[in-house]
Amino acid sequence: MALLQINDLVVRYGEIEALRGVSLAVDEGQVVTLLGANGAGKSTTLRAISGLIKPASGEILFDGKPISGPNTHTLGPEAIVRLGISHVPEGRRVFPGLSVKENIMLGGSNRRVGKAELSREADAMFDLFPDIRAFANALGWTLSGGQLQMVAVARGLMAKPRLLLLDEPSLGLAPVIVQAVFRIISQIRRDTTVLLVEQNARMGLSVADHGYVLETGRIVLGGKPDELWGNEAIRAAYLGGHAKVSA
Ligand SMILES: Nc1ncnc2c1ncn2[C@@H]1O[C@H](COP(=O)(O)OP(=O)(O)OP(=O)(O)O)[C@@H](O)[C@H]1O
Ligand SMILES: [Mg+2]
Repeated sequence: MALLQINDLVVRYGEIEALRGVSLAVDEGQVVTLLGANGAGKSTTLRAISGLIKPASGEILFDGKPISGPNTHTLGPEAIVRLGISHVPEGRRVFPGLSVKENIMLGGSNRRVGKAELSREADAMFDLFPDIRAFANALGWTLSGGQLQMVAVARGLMAKPRLLLLDEPSLGLAPVIVQAVFRIISQIRRDTTVLLVEQNARMGLSVADHGYVLETGRIVLGGKPDELWGNEAIRAAYLGGHAKVSA
């Protein structure tokens, strides 16, 4: 049984049908990458999983239990976080009034652990993200886009999720920072299942066990990364260019 199973999901924003029957599965221990152009419905898929929007039809099962669907009592975002799903949304929302460490600790507020334990765990996060260690306790910090992204991912990990939803962690970052972010994804995959949204097909597939291509609200292709790259027509249309995946 897949950890996450989405069946025939339809999501509308008023007149706009953003998802038109999306089905996909994420197995425990995998990194699954969802690729697609602007407006394809990638973020909408993640928002539906984390309970921020209710689908018009279809269903989402986590660990075999329905968490969302028109006939299911759709759980709210807090309940979904408590089940073990953590969403790192697009953009890098951090709270400027708090230190970097306090920002990271906030990610664990769903768990029944004391502040001292959260503080220890946040300190340990800086082993994974050494680039932001120097800013840990400073107030009035200024971080680069890549550093803000690291704070956001660290905060997501503090929830100790069974499933981490990452929305375009590489967006707008310089190539060297993109590589650092992807190195972290390959590290966290040892303990965490990841559903990763990416427009950068090459990077997204390089860390994936499985990939899906979303086009205007529909999954048009799914397969192992080398199968996706092996399909010439698909590669030209959706994956951009002829670069080879180094797995
Ligand atoms: N709050 C909203 N209200 C109305 N329409 C929306 C809203 N959010 C998204 N949409 C529309 O739904 C469709 C899917 O949007 P979504 O944000 O899921 O795409 P995406 O694949 O994440 O794109 P991007 O790569 O630009 O982030 C688009 O047509 C978008 O315009
Ligand atoms: Mg998006």
